[in-house]
Amino acid sequence: MRLCRIDDLQSGMMLAGNLYLDDGRLLASNGAALTADGLNTLRGHGFTRVAIHEHGTDDIEIPLVISEGLQRDLGMRTRQLFNFLRRKLAGYVDKPPTVILASLRGPKVAQEFAKVDLYGPLEGLTDSLLVEVAGRPNLDGLGAVRRNDDLHVEHAINVSMASSVLGYQTRLSGQRRIELALGELRHDVGMIFVSNDTAEKPGRLTVAEMSRILAHPRLGYALLQLTTSSVWYVSNHVALQHHERQDGQGYPRGLFGTNRVERIETELFDP
Ligand SMILES: [Fe+2]
Repeated sequence: MRLCRIDDLQSGMMLAGNLYLDDGRLLASNGAALTADGLNTLRGHGFTRVAIHEHGTDDIEIPLVISEGLQRDLGMRTRQLFNFLRRKLAGYVDKPPTVILASLRGPKVAQEFAKVDLYGPLEGLTDSLLVEVAGRPNLDGLGAVRRNDDLHVEHAINVSMASSVLGYQTRLSGQRRIELALGELRHDVGMIFVSNDTAEKPGRLTVAEMSRILAHPRLGYALLQLTTSSVWYVSNHVALQHHERQDGQGYPRGLFGTNRVERIETELFDP
């Protein structure tokens, strides 16, 4: 199978994996052949990429890191959240970061989000995620969730899985692992303010485009702060800090750090 952008799909191609709507209903089944009407339906529901069967690659088995049911539920809930925010804040896409930040800190947006819970719908699922990845000795196979139609959702789930494994391996407390898993599911939420045309633009970005992308950690953090209590302070900081680097070369604050993940001897690769 391979992932195909919606504009590159053609009638007759076969879906690899089920497609679900935001409310969890099945839209199309694995193996269904695409038609012109079907393609329009996919576009209408906001699908941007789907997995298709492809001759010569279908015998490549992609291991399931987490159960298909959990993948589906995590994908559905995360996509619902992102789509909800995209709808609510559509008017801010590709606006200057200073304008967006001022609005996020203003009374009008604060009032709109006062009763929105950005954590609740994902909480139970992160518990399941932590249970399913518990005891995994390494990161083999992570990054294998490739069936989601939404690039940001797929990335969020993969990063959350990887950080959950690292959380176990570095012996974080249960509470810290939950905060980390939840935080990673929404770490790139600030990218809702960047259009797909900019985020996926091939070649060199303009200064204005680059500034919008570099602003996504701060904007995501400001957005998350609108709706959650201090209980999720650490989770919100995942959004703010996920592009920082130990050597101070990251952004937005250029923080320095001394954290290291050491491998024990038995985990080293053979020379
Ligand atoms: Fe990011």
